[in-house]
Order: sequence, then structure tokens, then C-alpha cells
Amino acid sequence: MKIAVLPGDGIGPEIVSEAVKVLGALDVKFEMEAAPVGGAAYEAAGHPLPEATLKLAQGADAILFGAVGDWKYDTLERALRPEQAILGLRKALGLFANFRPAICYEQLVGASSLKPELVAGLDILIIRELTGDIYFGQPRGRRTAADGHFPGAEEAFDTMRYARPEIERIARVAFEAARKRGKKVTSVDKANVLETFQFWKDVVTEVHKDYPDVELQHMYVDNAAMQLVKAPKAFDVIVTGNMFGDILSDEASMLTGSIGMLPSASLNDRKQGLYEPSHGSAPDIAGKGVANPLATILSAAMMLRFSLNQPEAAGRIEAAVQKVLAQGLRTPDIWSEGTTRVGTAQMGDAVVNALR
Ligand code: NAI
Ligand code: MG
Repeated sequence: MKIAVLPGDGIGPEIVSEAVKVLGALDVKFEMEAAPVGGAAYEAAGHPLPEATLKLAQGADAILFGAVGDWKYDTLERALRPEQAILGLRKALGLFANFRPAICYEQLVGASSLKPELVAGLDILIIRELTGDIYFGQPRGRRTAADGHFPGAEEAFDTMRYARPEIERIARVAFEAARKRGKKVTSVDKANVLETFQFWKDVVTEVHKDYPDVELQHMYVDNAAMQLVKAPKAFDVIVTGNMFGDILSDEASMLTGSIGMLPSASLNDRKQGLYEPSHGSAPDIAGKGVANPLATILSAAMMLRFSLNQPEAAGRIEAAVQKVLAQGLRTPDIWSEGTTRVGTAQMGDAVVNALR
């Protein structure tokens, strides 16, 4: 089993080294190889996703990714910006299914932005389609309007599109995931206004015929945004397009206490995956040793479960994380009165000790 380790920028190296430490404490052995990515790779090799890094990722069973980006690269041309590395990896590896579980751990119920009774026991899974939608649809650009409300004015436009196989495969992923959980899928769309999402709804409904044991619910995205803060526990698996998934998953992250707690997985149809925390490179706290490494450690657990066929080891890591939270250890982002403040490395060490 080979893991490509891509720490990246900002807090990336700090949090990834804690996850590597935790993986090293398991009795399962992996081959791990690191390479630069993002701004770090731009500095070292002049490109955010150098050929050697891409090759390493392509040849690995799984990729453990930190985060990329820093304000200092804002003036670079778009193709050389750190963020292009993650887009390039998704594209090259065909990673189309983004899993973002939002779990509110018992010990962090008080850290959520919602009332404790709304989030206690929360365990939902957002599955975001990652290759289609308005983010990649062509044509796009700027022009002088030939028609519309302001003919002759300068305008910008993007194209929202989804192909049937693209919707079918993400729907299958969602139904399969729901089968192993609460057996309910909520497909989020905007079918009342957008043809792309009427098509989405039709195709998801067709695929559902193969999964009669799973309940399917359709919901408009505006209502879903409201229900996520009104009664989040009513959801089990949410499946949606690229843009709605981007927004709803950030909304859901706040239910759990801190963005520093949220892992993610991006998978292709060969079970190869890229695993990363949901947050970015947090340049504001980089180098200070205070970043929460738990989202990255929990991403490593997802990696063991989805790509490396080690569900037992994954469960051990998740149990160890709960144990350190129960011990009252908290990085500053989740700290509250009466708990013990620890740094990044101390948190990683505590997880390793809890594993033993
Ligand atoms: P961010 O997620 O990096 O930070 C947002 C806020 O959350 C900051 O105050 C930060 O200190 C805090 N935070 C994030 N992770 C934390 C952790 N593990 N522990 C404690 N606090 C944490 O988002 P922001 O500031 O919008 O973006 C910073 C850079 O990250 C940008 O260059 C952006 O493009 C990049 N980015 C990269 C992503 C990726 O690599 N997949 C995803 C999102 C942003
Ligand atoms: Mg986002």
C-alpha cells in the first residue's frame, strides 16, 4: 500500500506530520513518500503541480494532502497559483466524489454554533459532485451583450452543465453510502428553476430504482440551506452538485464546532482517493504550532477505510480522537473554559498515546 504525502503550504506541513505520526503508530505498514505541492512546489520547481508530484500521486493508492495557498501568490497568473494543484490532481485522477462527513462529537456539542439539542448526535454525510456543474462548463467568459436586459453592456457568463453518466455515477455512490448508514438520501437541486437540475432530479430518480432499500427525498437547495440549521439531524446522506455542495458543506461544517475537525475524501471509480482536511492553509496561524491536526488525522482514517481496505485501523484512529477529546485536550479553535489547551504536536502525540 503506497501513500503519497503532499503537505503543501501554510499549516499543511504541521498538520500532515501529525497524521503521518498517527499512521506510523498503527501495526499496519505503509510505504509513504512525500513531494512538494502548491506554493511550496512553485518555490522549489516553478510549478504548483510538478510532473514528479503528479506521477507520485498517480502511482499511489491514496494521497494524504495538507492544504495549498497563501496570499503572497495572489499576484501570480492563474495557472501558477497554488490552488491549481488541487484542481489538477482532481482532474488527472478523475476524482469525482467528494465525501464530507459532518459529525458533532459529544465533547464538542457546546462548540457548535447551534443549540446543543440540535447537534447532539449529529452524523450526516455530504457527497458533493466534483467534476461538473458551473465550475467547469464551457463556454464561459466576458463579452459585450448582444441581447438581455442591457444590450451593448459588458457582461460575464458561465455555463451550468451535467452529463447523464456524471449524475448516474455520483447518485450510485450516494445510494451505496446510504446503504451502509441511515438508508436515506436527500438529493439537493434547483429543479424548479434550472434545467440542469431538473435533469439531475430525473436521473437520480431513475438510478434510485436499483436501490429500493434506500429512501430518496428531493429538496430544493434554498430549503436545504434552511433545514441544515433548523433540523440537521433529519438528514443522513445529502448528494448534490459541485456548487451547491461547496456551499452546503461549509455551512454544515459550522454545526460541528470547528473547521479544524472536518475531514474529507475525494474518490474516483478505482477507489483511489485524495484525503485532506476541509479547511485551507490558514496562513494566519501557520508556523505557530497551534493548528488543529484532527481534521487531517480523521482524513487519514477515511483513507484507511475507503482506499486502503483497513476499516479496523480507521475505527481505532476515530476512537483515539474521541478519547483525547474526552480527556479534555483542545487546540485553541475548540478550546473552552475548563478544558486543557494544547498545540498541534501535543494533540498528535495524545492521539498516538490513545492508540496504544
Ligand atoms: P482557511 O480554511 O485556511 O482558514 C479559515 C479560518 O479558519 C482561519 O482563521 C484559520 O486560522 C482557521 N483554521 C483553518 N484550519 C484550521 C485548523 N486546522 N486549526 C485551527 N484553525 C484553523 O481558509 P482561508 O483563510 O479562506 O484560506 C487560506 C488559504 O487556503 C487561501 O490561499 C485559500 O485559497 C486556501 N485554501 C485551500 C484549500 C485546499 O488546499 N484544499 C481549501 C480552502 C482554502
Ligand atoms: Mg469551499
